[in-house]
Amino acid sequence: MICAFFWSACRTDKMAETTFHSLVENLEKYLEYQRDEGVQRLDVDRAVLAALAKEPEPELRAAPEAPVMATVPMTENFKTLEEIATHVSACRRCPLCQGRTHSVPGEGNADSPDLMFIGEGPGADEDAQGRPFVGKAGQLLTKMIEAMGYARADVFIANVVKCRPPNNRTPLPEEMDLCLPYLRQQIGLIKPKVIVGLGATAIKGLLGKTVGVTRLRGTWQEYEGIKLMPTFHPSYLLRDPSKKKEVWQDLLLVLKELGKEPPPRK
Ligand code: URA
Repeated sequence: MICAFFWSACRTDKMAETTFHSLVENLEKYLEYQRDEGVQRLDVDRAVLAALAKEPEPELRAAPEAPVMATVPMTENFKTLEEIATHVSACRRCPLCQGRTHSVPGEGNADSPDLMFIGEGPGADEDAQGRPFVGKAGQLLTKMIEAMGYARADVFIANVVKCRPPNNRTPLPEEMDLCLPYLRQQIGLIKPKVIVGLGATAIKGLLGKTVGVTRLRGTWQEYEGIKLMPTFHPSYLLRDPSKKKEVWQDLLLVLKELGKEPPPRK
């Protein structure tokens, strides 16, 4: 469906820039939706790829990536989160390092907090500031945290990959594999009581499951002996606010597990 839709629009000789932008935006939304549902691969018509390659839109193309790809497993055993952050800031294990302004190791309460939220990877705002979830999705995540009766500083927030993927694409499996040891060691040091996995990438990274979040959300999972609640990613909620109800149900389960009640609504 994507192919027919996209190719017919791309064929016009002189494509208006705005049309192209809105097409790309719609296509992005569709692909993000599929990703949130756990879809890992899509067949794309060669003709569509060729049409995209011809369009002179430099900012829409991924930056050329030199083959920076670690071939040896990470051997470091970090003793502190600061050590991890320092290592991450100089990391060149995968090509994502080439596009980063700042790495985004994560932030928050690292002293066995009730909650650790794990997302996919930094976007443009996070890359600019070196802090996780500070853009629109981050503002929504902060609201979710506050609705649960916590402050942002009470919880730890991190991502599966620590550098921004080009054009906010989903991290590749190789990039996730190379970056995940950082997150695993962070979790080992932070020792959260409960992890909330935000979206398909977090679930895939932590559990290795490619089951869609729609099916897994609201069901308790376990990561290295820590309770893990999968739920929708805040970016998905921005695209489909009707899903907020489900996320709130998931967060109520988390509060119950922690022996807490949500504060009265303001
Ligand atoms: N989306 C994520 O998954 N992580 C961020 O830090 C920001 C947006």
